[in-house]
Amino acid sequence: MVAKFKPYMLNLLGQTVITMNDIFKKISRTGILVIGDLMVDQYIWGKVRRISPEAPVPVVEVTEENLLLGGAANVAHNILSLGGKVFIAGTIGRDDTGKILINKLSEKGFNTDGIIIDGKRPTTVKTRVIAHSQQVVRFDREVKTDISTPTLSLILEYVRSCLPRIRGIIVSDYCKGLITKKLIKKLIDLTASKVFIAVDPKIGHFDYYRGTSLITPNMNEASFGSGIDIIDEKTLTAAGRTLMKKLRCNAVIITRGNEGMTLFEKNGSVTHIPTCAREVYDVSGAGDTVISTLTLCRSAGAKLKDAAIIANHAAGVVVAKVGTAVATRQEILKSMKTCKPLINYKNVKKTR
Ligand SMILES: Nc1ncnc2c1ncn2[C@@H]1O[C@H](COP(=O)(O)OP(=O)(O)OP(=O)(O)O)[C@@H](O)[C@H]1O
Ligand SMILES: [Mg+2]
Repeated sequence: MVAKFKPYMLNLLGQTVITMNDIFKKISRTGILVIGDLMVDQYIWGKVRRISPEAPVPVVEVTEENLLLGGAANVAHNILSLGGKVFIAGTIGRDDTGKILINKLSEKGFNTDGIIIDGKRPTTVKTRVIAHSQQVVRFDREVKTDISTPTLSLILEYVRSCLPRIRGIIVSDYCKGLITKKLIKKLIDLTASKVFIAVDPKIGHFDYYRGTSLITPNMNEASFGSGIDIIDEKTLTAAGRTLMKKLRCNAVIITRGNEGMTLFEKNGSVTHIPTCAREVYDVSGAGDTVISTLTLCRSAGAKLKDAAIIANHAAGVVVAKVGTAVATRQEILKSMKTCKPLINYKNVKKTR
């Protein structure tokens, strides 16, 4: 779809830089709970020089390997990178990868008290083999069945203990078993509408999210969740509004890849936020950056529209990096200052 909608403009002149500093100051005092499917992203890098004599497949000579925080752990990492206070609730298996994940999180300064070891399932790992900048194969180790009732109770106990210290909750659903209808219902009951709950959804779970504050589907997820094939502005608007109605949430953000995002609010307003032109290296993890930046800024007191614009810049920063990556405050500010077409203070006043 070609972006031809009238975009929302954010003031990036002096005044907004001051506002950004205000938001950043508040962020440092803002606690966010990330609850979701924790993962490890494993990257195996190498070179291919020949085809295997055993089967018609390339032989990858491994030159480097690394393990990164993935899924909900990447969402938590994004919040930490922006200076927010993070609480994590999720599960790992009783295995070496689980230990590695805990060590990686502890090294970065995360509190891991809310990470429950579930001996009946492995730690989720996605392994990507990359040769000459091209992915050769990906293999996933995971069990996707719903978590057990005892595990759910332990998770909820942790959530309860965090409540006095958090302003926002991010539900990072990767359909790996942690996010169930019961868990979301309990979250809504426990928080009694006092905490902003944002959901990064997955196809198949849409009816779980009813009553949360905001969801951030991509185009495909939004089409599926609303039952409307998004092909133009009209169908995009219809899909967003249908999702809001169906899920009874306060807002929906449909992320639109290189075309940015569209925010739907309860008062009926529809805001298109475009991206800036930039060189893109790796779009994986952009959705994690959107939900973390957005929830953190919104929970720190920013208007939803402004939080969405900041999140759009943060995601733009991340897609220009290789591998699941995070954005810093400085990088977001730099993106705002250099993204010239968005600078227009008069338009901000008009659209507010
Ligand atoms: N090519 C791009 N150029 C600039 N920004 C981009 C590009 N692709 C994605 N983004 C940014 O990332 C955001 C999220 O991207 P997208 O809509 O692809 O989400 P997603 O499919 O959920 O991603 P993920 O693979 O992380 O789940 C977009 O709203 C936009 O801000
Ligand atoms: Mg996504």
